[in-house]
Amino acid sequence: MDVMTAVLSRRSAQHLVEPAPSDEEFGYLLRAAATAPDHGRIRPWRWVLVRGEGRTALGRCFADESPATGAERYRTESRTHRAPLLATLVFTPATGHRVPEWEQLAATSAMTTSLMLLLHARGFGSIWRTGRFTESDAVSRLLGLSSGERLLGWLYIGSADDAQPFRRRLPDDVSDRVSAFAPEPVLV
Ligand SMILES: Cc1cc2nc3c(=O)[nH]c(=O)nc-3n(C[C@H](O)[C@H](O)[C@H](O)COP(=O)(O)O)c2cc1C
Repeated sequence: MDVMTAVLSRRSAQHLVEPAPSDEEFGYLLRAAATAPDHGRIRPWRWVLVRGEGRTALGRCFADESPATGAERYRTESRTHRAPLLATLVFTPATGHRVPEWEQLAATSAMTTSLMLLLHARGFGSIWRTGRFTESDAVSRLLGLSSGERLLGWLYIGSADDAQPFRRRLPDDVSDRVSAFAPEPVLV
């Protein structure tokens, strides 16, 4: 798949089923994604892969952190079962570095976008999900984050459910977001 096709045909997938990439395949694709622009080559991120029973434990933690009860609690608890693999994105900024934190966050986002495109080109679907549980201390503790690290959400990864229609994308006209710099003429 060429890059233009990959970019235009990738869509966030709400429901994903098996198969998901194995740990080895995830590592292979991540190695490529990690070549994304990264000022200082800091790689200020890490991934925690959540599968199987791990999804159940994480879902229970979501539910415990939510005020919901009854059927709503069950829905919250089930959220982690919307894909076979939840890749937790952890931001691990280098502090006191000459490269400011915002640039490290930008590099992390660039790597994640590359990974989503590589997954798509390989036939896998994904969606980046965030939400209030990224702010939860209990969720961070469960996943083993240390202080100074920040949870940036999860890439839900798997294969597209055949029941879902493919949603073709027509790129928006964004020409109003581009302007040409026209300096004042210098009078001599
Ligand atoms: C940083 C980030 C956080 C996101 N968080 C969520 C989320 O919590 N829930 C969700 O349904 N989609 C989330 N998304 C996915 C966007 O909703 C999705 O990319 C957008 O709707 C466009 O859809 P597309 O990816 O198919 O073009 C997130 C995307 C980004 C980049």
